[in-house]
Amino acid sequence: MSEPTTTPTTTQTGTPVASDAHSLTIGADGATVLHDRYLVEKLAQFNRERIPERIVHAKGGGAFGSFEVTADVSAYTRAAVFQPGSTVETLLRFSSVAGEQGSPDTWRDVRGFSLKFYTTEGNYDIVGNNTPVFFIRDGIKFPDFIHSQKRLPGSGLRDADMQWDFWTLSPESAHQVTYLMGDRGLPKSWREMQGYGSHTYQWINAEGEKFWVKYHFRSQQGDLHLDAESAEAIAGADADYYRRDLHEAIEAGNHPKWDLHVQVMPYDDAKTYRYNPFDLTKVWPHADYPLIPVGTLTLDRNPQNFFAEIEQAAFSPANTVPGIAISPDKMLMARVFSYPDAQRYRVGTNYNQIPVNAPHAASVANYSQDGAQRHGFNAPTTPVYAPNSFGGPVASAAAAAEGGWESDGELVRAAYTLRSDDSDFGQAGTLYREVYSAEAKLRLQATLAGQARSITIDEIRERFFQYWTNVDADLGAALREGFAGEDAAA
Ligand code: HEM
Repeated sequence: MSEPTTTPTTTQTGTPVASDAHSLTIGADGATVLHDRYLVEKLAQFNRERIPERIVHAKGGGAFGSFEVTADVSAYTRAAVFQPGSTVETLLRFSSVAGEQGSPDTWRDVRGFSLKFYTTEGNYDIVGNNTPVFFIRDGIKFPDFIHSQKRLPGSGLRDADMQWDFWTLSPESAHQVTYLMGDRGLPKSWREMQGYGSHTYQWINAEGEKFWVKYHFRSQQGDLHLDAESAEAIAGADADYYRRDLHEAIEAGNHPKWDLHVQVMPYDDAKTYRYNPFDLTKVWPHADYPLIPVGTLTLDRNPQNFFAEIEQAAFSPANTVPGIAISPDKMLMARVFSYPDAQRYRVGTNYNQIPVNAPHAASVANYSQDGAQRHGFNAPTTPVYAPNSFGGPVASAAAAAEGGWESDGELVRAAYTLRSDDSDFGQAGTLYREVYSAEAKLRLQATLAGQARSITIDEIRERFFQYWTNVDADLGAALREGFAGEDAAA
């Protein structure tokens, strides 16, 4: 608590105000006058406090910190952020995908893991999840997928029928749904979960050699989960459980850390690899491409203002830096368009001028101007067009050559060409049989038994049993028998 202040309260334009307790009225009991300019300003300002929540990943929290390179990956990328000895400031935001702003943290969901590196070459963002794969492999399906996971238009309720209808009609979802219904769907905290870039990205070294990479952030706190009963109890008792845990841990000086590793695929391997390496529903087995250490991320600073620094934060897969580029992953290419578009709507045209989004270790030089809420501007002597004869900034020819891949063919709307080992259910089955422990298998089975009960349409439930039979025949049979037994008993 601080001493009583003598600083006068002012209007937004800095003039002292007479009262924060009494409106200007005609006599103590009479009408309120419209020219109480401060009352009007105060109410109007209040009415505009909210901006639209993120269309997905609305509930979240985050913290600042730093990323320190501890190994040498300069053979694969020339990006300054990953060079030996580099340490850069970072912002990490965690989130749930489907729930709204006030939704409980511990509802079963995939968790977002969005990282902004404030590098000397501009901001670099990795906008990933706590799973290495995703539900779909073409961005054109994303709005339908999200509609099916959010709420029915009539009742405003979430609905197992539409969730499972979409998933079972989209078999490419099986791998990610096996993660979601397993332990990763209920992390113990944001600190105790892994992060993944999920997509394949491109790295380019100083010689111009290209590689394909996948990012893995391994939590030094462990990869832990809640059991379903505790998660449900916590959802009722403390909707902000993860947000509170992160905030309190950092306040207490308990700074969470993640070790970044990458899988690196030589550029030409992608042409013949047994899985399509750009298909976001697939992982690259570590036996094929082992983890290579890069450095350590530490979170050590809570935001000073949640709205200004977390709610207004704008992460985007479009924010790349020299030495790093995207790949021909159809999801990633859709995301590169989608995020800045969402942020222009959600935060405003000049969202990148807000301190949390502006570069902290690089400067901005271009010919963009004006627009709502413009704060920064060029000196009046700077020309407003390119090309010009007056020394304005010039585009870099080196940047133009970077980040491409060979591409040719007719314009088509088609699924990826299948590789020898590509299938919708193969890696989901491997995850279930070879990665999940016996206990994890039982927990998954129990969760799925509950899901089967929540489906009300027989045809969708039948597809549900077939979907899990395709993942693993024994699992499918156990679910079917379990449900038939309960049905008979009912
Ligand atoms: C084509 C598919 C996708 C589209 C169109 C899409 C679109 C969006 C949009 C519009 C937002 C809100 C951005 C904002 O308002 O700031 C968002 C947030 C987010 N998305 Fe996606 N998304 C897609 C796939 C993915 C995938 C594959 C991942 C993870 C691998 C992912 C992770 C996230 C995360 C973590 C956030 C929250 C960002 C933050 O913390 O502010 N999304 N997405």
